[in-house]
Amino acid sequence: MDKSNRATVLAGNWKMNKTASEASELIKELIPAIEGANCDVVICVPYTSLDVAARLCKGTNISVGAQNCHYEESGAFTGEVSVTMLIESGVTHVIVGHSERRQYFGETDITVNLRARKAVSKGLIAIICVGELLEEREAGITEDVLSRQVKAALSDMTQEDMEHVIIAYEPVWAIGTGKTATSQQAGEACRFIRGIVEELFNADVAKSLTIQYGGSMNPSNAEELLAQEHVDGGLIGGASLKASDFKSLVDAASK
Ligand code: 13P
Repeated sequence: MDKSNRATVLAGNWKMNKTASEASELIKELIPAIEGANCDVVICVPYTSLDVAARLCKGTNISVGAQNCHYEESGAFTGEVSVTMLIESGVTHVIVGHSERRQYFGETDITVNLRARKAVSKGLIAIICVGELLEEREAGITEDVLSRQVKAALSDMTQEDMEHVIIAYEPVWAIGTGKTATSQQAGEACRFIRGIVEELFNADVAKSLTIQYGGSMNPSNAEELLAQEHVDGGLIGGASLKASDFKSLVDAASK
């Protein structure tokens, strides 16, 4: 399958790291380091750094993303942030359904779908995360889990909505553990996900969908992972917090 149908997207997920002033320092290092990137670059920063990130990244090749969004427009939802609020802050991307939110904050397949639909309906790019637990991989049910998560997340989405969707395959056992999926495991899972999308929509939608790998991607394993036919970029945690590491990953994704 020809990768030229779809964008390669390298996204940093900063998680709960960096104060606004620390974010400003890192972004000022990143901007010159990755100005020659030949792939799309996104940094998904904490809410408190969105404003500074959007201001600094304006006019550069770096897009700014959030790490979650709510599915209601406004109202009594203490602690939540709406898609409209994000857009006004200069955000173009939002991570939805990260495994840490599923594990620690009660995110379900249903709320992932609600959040993703709200995000795309307003024109944001939703980076929807899916991935199996270690015990699910060991029990041989990885494909069942991915199929369930992808189908639920994309439920009631239209073909047009899919132009605003990226799927990130993040095996939970590889996140922050230093244990990366082999390039073969990553490639197979991403191929499987593309197949599900083809089943749900059609071959064109499947071919143009960006599918990222995430989970301990670092400068020494990125090239092999990104060379996989069905891996169209990465969602990077730890290695996105250091300008030199993130630059290496952007370089690997630019090849
Ligand atoms: P690490 O790169 O730190 O393993 O995190 C991956 C991740 O969860 C990105 O969303």
